[in-house]
Amino acid sequence: MSNSEHCSHSQGVYLAVDLGGTNFRVCSIVLHGNQTFSLTHSKVAVPHALMEATTAYELFAFLAKQIELFLRTHHNDKFEAHLRRPSLQQYLDLGFTFSFPVNQLGINKGKLIRWTKGFDIEEAVGQDVCALLQKELDALNLPVIVAALVNDTVGTLMARSYTSPGKTGTFMGAIFGTGTNGAYVEKLTRVKKMAQIDAESDSASYDKSTGLMIVNTEWGSFDNNLKVLPDTPYDKALDTESVNPGIQMFEKRVSGMFLGEILRRAILALYEHKDPNVAFFRDASSADNDTSSTTTVAQDSPLYKQWGIDTSFLSIVEEDASDHLRITKQTLGKDLGIHAASTEDCVAVKTLVHAIGKRAARLAAVALGAVVISTNKLQEDDIVDIGVDGSLVEYYPGFEDYIREALREIPEIGLEGDKRIRIGLAKDGSGLGAALIALVASKAEERGEA
Ligand code: GLC
Repeated sequence: MSNSEHCSHSQGVYLAVDLGGTNFRVCSIVLHGNQTFSLTHSKVAVPHALMEATTAYELFAFLAKQIELFLRTHHNDKFEAHLRRPSLQQYLDLGFTFSFPVNQLGINKGKLIRWTKGFDIEEAVGQDVCALLQKELDALNLPVIVAALVNDTVGTLMARSYTSPGKTGTFMGAIFGTGTNGAYVEKLTRVKKMAQIDAESDSASYDKSTGLMIVNTEWGSFDNNLKVLPDTPYDKALDTESVNPGIQMFEKRVSGMFLGEILRRAILALYEHKDPNVAFFRDASSADNDTSSTTTVAQDSPLYKQWGIDTSFLSIVEEDASDHLRITKQTLGKDLGIHAASTEDCVAVKTLVHAIGKRAARLAAVALGAVVISTNKLQEDDIVDIGVDGSLVEYYPGFEDYIREALREIPEIGLEGDKRIRIGLAKDGSGLGAALIALVASKAEERGEA
């Protein structure tokens, strides 16, 4: 595409889409260039059948359709103009946040290595996900070009850099949501993979001018061999019955998609426990002297169904400070069809919730701490700025406090180091970040660098 044809893109409207978990989000962003931006967005749940579809087409055609709906609703002018007189000038650059492990081969090219977070479409593995999306966009005749491929952690890092206070550059972007992962700024000389690529080809197509590179760690797959990670019977069963046994073992102990399922398995095991003194939900006569009722677990209770407990349940119980854990009791009834649980049982459920949530946060600290230590960042800079996003950091009570508590216990970080680690929420950062990267990519193309 020539320079002049691309000029319209500098007007500042960028599209970003985000596929990475339960929802598919489409947004358009206007960058004002002074740390502010305006954002319009839509969100739709990804139908479960598409997460495990037989063909890649089924999922990507659905995504393209959502983009079409968004354009018709929010940018119909561009859409109609394009239909009347197709012209490259009407094209919008799109940043594609695709939050799965990818072998990135260029700014808008990357082959899927494996699915995570419950997705399982065998046919797509090994394919360029940008090409898959572009094909379906073209089939719908949409004026959209997939300009950049971005992991949500990288988007979060970019977004935090754009909006974070002061002059300190952002060092890391981390997600603690449906999945967990982190990306950070590394010295190019330490990126062994690039040295290997340089040795193999004499015209490696990446920018070396800053001496830095953002590395997507995919830490969700840390310690898949379980050398150091904790492993309970509930972790084991969750893994065995997942779509990807033996993979993402760190993520399966840390992220939102899995915490509810760990809890469900623990509660179910205790409900079915042979010893009536140990078993849950057997006797409502307890500390609150409520002898009037006996707990019932509805036959169709989600307690019996895989993924039956949502992580939001944990957040509610963790937060519950009501008398006799009234809120936990109500939520057990409403969400799980477990009626008239005793206060004693509620206390036990809360203890389990707390253990699962705190373990997740402390493991999260391990990942963050490892990157900070291995890069020597605390020795190099006064402030280490980390942008975070995801339902756990946003909604799980005390998640960041537990992370910090654990960071302080790491000798190389300690009280002093923890004070210099600044963690800030970059809410929905991956959308903004993807738009920023699409902008950078289109500018680079205008300069003829891509
Ligand atoms: C999973 C994906 C990773 C993503 C993370 C958070 O771990 O593999 O790419 O960043 O989830 O969404």
